Amino acid sequence: MQIRSRIIGLGSYLPERVLTNLELEGMVETSNEWILNRTGISERRIASEEEAASDLAYNASVAALKHAGIKKEDLDFIIVATVTPDMLFPSTACLVQYKLGIKNIFSFDISAACSGFIYALSVADQYIRSGIYRTGLVIGVDVFSKVVDWSDRSTCVLFGDGAGAAILQADSGDRGIISTHLHSDGRLWDILYIPGGGSRTPPSEEMLKNKLQYIKMRGNELFKVAVNTLCDSISEVLKFNGLKSDDIKLFIPHQANLRIIQAVGKKLNIPLERFKINLDVYGNTSAASVPIALCESVSEHMVRESDYVLLEAFGSGLTWGAALIKW
Ligand SMILES: CC(C)(COP(=O)(O)OP(=O)(O)OC[C@H]1O[C@@H](n2cnc3c(N)ncnc32)[C@H](O)[C@@H]1OP(=O)(O)O)[C@@H](O)C(=O)NCCC(=O)NCCS
Repeated sequence: MQIRSRIIGLGSYLPERVLTNLELEGMVETSNEWILNRTGISERRIASEEEAASDLAYNASVAALKHAGIKKEDLDFIIVATVTPDMLFPSTACLVQYKLGIKNIFSFDISAACSGFIYALSVADQYIRSGIYRTGLVIGVDVFSKVVDWSDRSTCVLFGDGAGAAILQADSGDRGIISTHLHSDGRLWDILYIPGGGSRTPPSEEMLKNKLQYIKMRGNELFKVAVNTLCDSISEVLKFNGLKSDDIKLFIPHQANLRIIQAVGKKLNIPLERFKINLDVYGNTSAASVPIALCESVSEHMVRESDYVLLEAFGSGLTWGAALIKW
């Protein structure tokens, strides 16, 4: 009998504070028109001073557990995908476990930036398919507002904060995660990165003076790589499973830039209506973007039982990947 991991519950959490493009006009030399035309983003959510990744992740997890209708004690493991953990260690997953008040499970973080949720989903899927574990909580969370340079217009307009969570459970039917496909190319590590704060350049006055604790990005190059990797990911999933793009009910891409999604649709001849898009209101929430979009798609009934859904993302690393789900 084949075991599949099925997503039995989803939850998301977006901080209350909305930061609009108009407000950004007062912070850096930019305009609502420039941001909208170049990215499609109108506003994003910003965590409060007190809120860290584990707080956002906890809220999304509680919602996902409720949606799944299971008890927290039913969980065997927690995997958190994030590159903005509460602290360097312990893992944010352990902090979420603590907040949920669960014992006797295992928890760990995955670092794959914006592809993180797909990486985490793939790892969780292997544990469940193998029959070793039955139920897992997978979370994508990032709080980029705390690592962007709010005086750098080329990055600060792009990102927002959020968390999305999914409960995976072993199922013997034909629904669930059908296949996952992961890739990385470390040669492109410096296309998007935070240079300071780690063991290469530990915190120091010099580091802070040079603003090395903030995101550095070569946006223009990344744009092209993003379009290519997303196209490759979609094509790989379709080919591997013997499907055509028309067989997919909904494409859920990483929400980085509307123009990237438009370019992917154009290259693969997939109409824009077949892509879930919510970057206009949340911006790029990194590892949270795909699970938040999936959660919304399900609650808006854009996806129904037995539909094929294709998740795809790219991010710092460079990492990229995709997952095909039969809902
Ligand atoms: C960042 C991005 C929106 C920039 O758009 P672009 O069309 O490539 O714009 P460019 O970088 O070529 O910049 C064009 C001009 O706009 C300016 N500009 C950059 N940010 C600006 C802003 N927020 N407001 C106004 N002007 C801005 C630049 O300085 C440049 O000016 P110049 O021509 O005088 O030098 C786009 O490259 C992108 O989305 N890249 C991918 C980023 C991404 O996905 N990151 C997350 C990965 S997970």
